[in-house]
Parts: sequence; C-alpha cells; structure tokens
Amino acid sequence: MNFYSCRSHVIIGTQQHLTDLSRRIDYAFRNRVTIKANMAHVMLRVANIQPGSVVCDPFCGSGTILMEAADWLKGNVTCIGLDVNRKAIVGARENILKNDNMKNSCTFYCKDARALKAHIGDNSLDAIVTNVPWGVQTGKNVDLQAIYEIVLRTAWYCLKPGGRFVMLVLRGLQMMRILRKLSGRYKLLGIRVVRTTNNMPCVVVVEKLERDVVHESLKGQLYEMTQYVNISPEMYSAVHLETTQDLDITKVGEKRKIGETDKIKEDDQGNGIKKFRKSSKSGTSGGTSGNVKKSRSDVWDQDK
Ligand SMILES: C[S@@+](CC[C@H](N)C(=O)[O-])C[C@H]1O[C@@H](n2cnc3c(N)ncnc32)[C@H](O)[C@@H]1O
Repeated sequence: MNFYSCRSHVIIGTQQHLTDLSRRIDYAFRNRVTIKANMAHVMLRVANIQPGSVVCDPFCGSGTILMEAADWLKGNVTCIGLDVNRKAIVGARENILKNDNMKNSCTFYCKDARALKAHIGDNSLDAIVTNVPWGVQTGKNVDLQAIYEIVLRTAWYCLKPGGRFVMLVLRGLQMMRILRKLSGRYKLLGIRVVRTTNNMPCVVVVEKLERDVVHESLKGQLYEMTQYVNISPEMYSAVHLETTQDLDITKVGEKRKIGETDKIKEDDQGNGIKKFRKSSKSGTSGGTSGNVKKSRSDVWDQDK
C-alpha cells in the first residue's frame, strides 16, 4: 500500500491485480538494465504521445519503452529504437515477435545514438523517450556526458518543433548543466526525482524550441548597431565570436597604438555618444601587452 500526501490531501493506493504492473507485457528478452513498464508508461505520458505519433528511443535496450507505447496506443504509433548493442537489438526484435499487436509499429536498429540524424529525417519525431546509459552497468569507460550532449544536439534536428525529449537519467544535476548549455534549443519543462528500490534517478522533460529567439535577437542587435559604430575588423570579429574559448585580446588590439581612441559617432537619435575606447585609467593598453589576462571589459568599455 502506498501513501501520498499532497497539501491537504492524502492519497492511499493499493494494488488490485495479482501480477506486478511492470510485467504486464510478455517479454522474451530482458536484461539487467531493462526499465520497468510502468516507469516507461509515465515517461510516454509526459512526452505527450498521441495516437499516430512517431516516437524514438535512441538507447532502446530491450525495447521496453517503445513496446509500452505500442501496447498503450494499440499499435497506432510508429516506434523506432536504436542501440549499439547487437544483443539488445536481437532481444528487442524477439520481444516484438512475442507480441502480435506490436509487429507493425516497432522497428529496431543496431546503431549508435550519436548518429541519430543520419538515420532519422529532420523534424520527423513527435517525441524521444529514453533511458540513457548511466555508466553503472553499461557504458563504462566512455564519456557519457559527451554522449548525452551530442545526442541532445543531434536530436534537436530530428524532433518536430514542440516535440518532447523525455529521459530517465541518473545524474539529474549533470543533465541540468548540459541543458543549460543548450538552453536556446530546448525549454526545460520539468525534472523530477523518482524513488526506485535502490536508487533515485530523475525524469527530465524538455521541449524543442523552434528558434533560438534570444540568440537571434542579439545577432540582430549587433548587425543593426554595426552601422553606427566605427568598429575595426578585429573588434568586429571579437564581438561576433560565438565560441566560449578565451579570447586572445593581444591579437584583438594589436594594430592599435597605445592611448589611441576610436572615432566617436553619435547615434541616429543623437541621445548619447557611443564609442568603444581603450581604457587609459586601468593602465592596460588595449591588448598590446602580452601579459594582459583581464576580461575584455577591462580593456574595452562602452561610454555611458
Ligand atoms: C539504460 S539501458 C536502456 C534500457 C532500456 N530502456 C530497456 O528497457 O532495456 C541503456 C542502453 O544504451 C545502450 N547504449 C549505450 N551507448 C549507446 C550509444 N552510443 N548508442 C546507442 N545505444 C547505446 C546500451 O547498450 C543500453 O542498452
């Protein structure tokens, strides 16, 4: 019997059926990492799967999540499963053969999830629902963080706009960091810790954003502003730099002389002078000194 308290309410649940809900589908193959069918069902629900949806599990293992989708929607769903492990794919196919109602809706391929885009067309998936490798029983000696990030990046192309990516992860905090890096691509809808017998993984739900509006807005502002600012080609490329690697400011300002200020230009409204100039107070030289390690704003500042 389970008790759940929710504000002023207490919900008491008890199992009325004899067999465990997680075993309601007939499996020919299961392995140590097989997710429980009831957990798979919850993930499909939060993925907003509808009849007729196209769903992918890029780390499908024995195929539990996709089989649950096919069972729930009575075969009115297209399910695509990928896994690098040939044994898992053979097992997933055997599972399908045991369940007639799933034969026409589930297809499994022995492929690497990082190459998702090579197998799945752009904007073709309604949802990706998966139990990523945790590196505990599978995936040892591989850079899982890199795999998660690559799969999230490539999945963005395959998902339809508004399509959801639901994943069961062991390290929720790590996944949040990765998602923050990709914040222009996905909107984090929710993250919830799940209690299992001996662990506490998280279900993470994100939604594909069609456009990175903040990135587009910033780019637009920079291009617009370019016509009012007398900016050097070096500084132009510095301002438009998109990598997060440290900028070598010695190169940015090397063509300028110490103390030289940039040409001042008034903007169209005439409500202020906009200029980039070298800071004479800080004693820095606009990047001509080789040992300058300060941030760009120490060297180049914008007058108010
Ligand atoms: C946690 S298990 C998934 C279990 C699955 N949900 C089930 O019910 O059987 C993770 C799976 O990811 C697979 N895997 C690991 N790295 C992969 C990669 N780069 N591409 C595709 N599959 C991968 C493993 O072989 C393993 O089957």
